Formats: sequence, structure tokens, C-alpha cells
Amino acid sequence: MNLEVQLAPRHPRGLRLRNPVIAASGTFGYGEEFEGVIDIQRLGAIVCKGTTLKAREGNPQPRLAETPCGLLNSIGLENIGLGRLISEKAPVWAGWKTPVIVNIAGGSLAEYRKLASSLEGVVGVAALELNISCPNVRSGGMEFGMKPDLTARVTAAVRQANSLPLIVKLSPNAGDIVSIARAAVREGADALCLINTLKGMAIDLAKKRRLPGFGSGGLSGPAIKPVALYQVYSVSGAVDVPVIGCGGIECGRDALEFLAAGAAAVEVGTASFTNPRATIDILDGLEKHMAENDVRDVGELTGVARAWNIV
Ligand SMILES: Cc1cc2nc3c(=O)[nH]c(=O)nc-3n(C[C@H](O)[C@H](O)[C@H](O)COP(=O)(O)O)c2cc1C
Repeated sequence: MNLEVQLAPRHPRGLRLRNPVIAASGTFGYGEEFEGVIDIQRLGAIVCKGTTLKAREGNPQPRLAETPCGLLNSIGLENIGLGRLISEKAPVWAGWKTPVIVNIAGGSLAEYRKLASSLEGVVGVAALELNISCPNVRSGGMEFGMKPDLTARVTAAVRQANSLPLIVKLSPNAGDIVSIARAAVREGADALCLINTLKGMAIDLAKKRRLPGFGSGGLSGPAIKPVALYQVYSVSGAVDVPVIGCGGIECGRDALEFLAAGAAAVEVGTASFTNPRATIDILDGLEKHMAENDVRDVGELTGVARAWNIV
């Protein structure tokens, strides 16, 4: 049984993962936080918290609000900053079997370029994930993921500044995600990840306030799964690079649905909050399904739904 996936087939070194289960950015810290809880060395990959040039404290509390089947967050990219990531985290990751992908978030084109060039040649960093889809910051963030020309410019800038495999993480808030996806691929994305959170808001009538504290937030969890599935289906049918599916994946069956829709791998986010073992449970579920159904290679599962319900 082969669970290996190649997420950057067009890249000279490629990005080969032992299996397609990846911990999503912002929900798995820097990986170390989960070391005593699960065997992180079994994971396909880990994406670290969105990293900015300077350390950020993030937005004021409350930064989380639960909604039916979902979670609203307005963390605002709290992170240790690029310098500490390079000096403290990368040397630890260098000793791991599981590759670590660094999620980068800039406030401007120049910041994205600087983040990418500073990560060139850093041992312990396997790939970059370009976050152009964070709804919880006032400048940059999601803005670059809203229009194909901006997506093209930021992807090209990062591609030029860094030779690692490049994943571009897209926003479901864009009107036409297929055009955005095509722009990223044209400018050198080796793979795409979708989706980031959907912009949303809750209201606390008793306290007379909007939630989360930022006034709006990003919705994640099972509530967004149908949106994510459809966008993965649409984009994977329109581009010729691997698509990583993300959004509400909680169990092996959810992951299988994303593979069927066209994903080559999956990222697991919010589920790790309710079940810290979620990533491993999902991997076990995939393996069980493959064994029971005589699936020899996980790649056979990708895109099978494309041929279903054609009338
Ligand atoms: C608390 C929280 C923090 C997040 N931080 C980031 C981040 O720093 N960078 C990023 O690209 N995505 C971030 N995300 C988005 C997730 O990686 C993921 O794309 C999204 O939550 C949808 O997947 P899920 O429903 O499995 O959580 C964050 C999500 C949550 C819930």
C-alpha cells in the first residue's frame, strides 16, 4: 500500500510526503506543541503558524467564538517572527522525519519578498506556503488573494526570491477562485492549498458586541466543508498542479471526500482543537479504507468524483 504523494511534481527537488495528511497552519503551532500528544513523525507534513517579518501579538481578546458547526477566529497572525523561527524552530525541524512547511504572511509585496529571500537555504524548512488569504489583519493578508493580478504579482515575487517548493493558499472569499488559482500557477506555484477561512461574524446581543473582538473573523470547521469541497473540485479541474484540500476535515471519511473531489492531499485545522489526535485518526482512517478496498496507491483516490453524476 503506497500513501506517498508528490506535491511539487514540477519542482526540481519536488515535495514528496510519506502520506497526504498535513497539519494546517495556525492550528498546530510549530509542531513541538503536539509532540507529547501524538507521534508527529507519522504526519505527511506540518505547516507552521503564519509567519511575519516581525513578531506579532495578534488582535485583542476575545479572538475565538464558537458557532453552529464552526469556529470564528480573529487571532491576527500572532507569531514569533521570522528571526526566531529561523534561529529557534528550523534547527529543531531539521532533525524531524516530517517535513515542515513555513506559512508566510506579508503586509506588502516587499515584505513577502523579504520573507521568501530570508528563508532561502534555511535548513529545516521544506517548502513555503504563501498565505494570501488571512481575513484577520488590517493590511496585506487576504487582499493579495482577492484579485488575479495581485495574486500573480505576489506569487512571482516569492518565486523569484526563493527556490523551495511553493504552495499558494487561496481564499474562499475571492469571487472567482479559479482565476486566482490560474494566476498563481502561471507565476510558479507548485501546488495550491484551499481553503483558508471564510469571513464571518457573530453577534452577542446580551453584551451588545460583535464577535470575535476584531469585529469579524474567519470561519472554519465542518460548517465550511461543503464550500471547500466545491472549490477544491472546481480548481483541481482547472489547473495542472496538485491541490491540497482544507476546510472542516475531521475524520478519514472527510479526507476521502476531499481526495474524491480532486485533492492530492489534505490539511487538517480546527479538528486538532477538539481532538488533538485528529491528524493521526484521519491517517489511520485513510489506511483502513485503502486496506479494506484494495486501494494500492492513494493517488488512485484523487478526483474519482469527477466522473460521478454526469447526466
Ligand atoms: C485559530 C486559527 C488560526 C489560523 N491561522 C492561520 C495562519 O496563520 N495561516 C493560514 O494560512 N491559515 C490559518 N488558519 C486557517 C487554517 O489553516 C485553515 O485553512 C482553515 O481553518 C480551514 O480549515 P479547518 O476547517 O480544518 O480549520 C487558521 C485557522 C484557525 C482556526
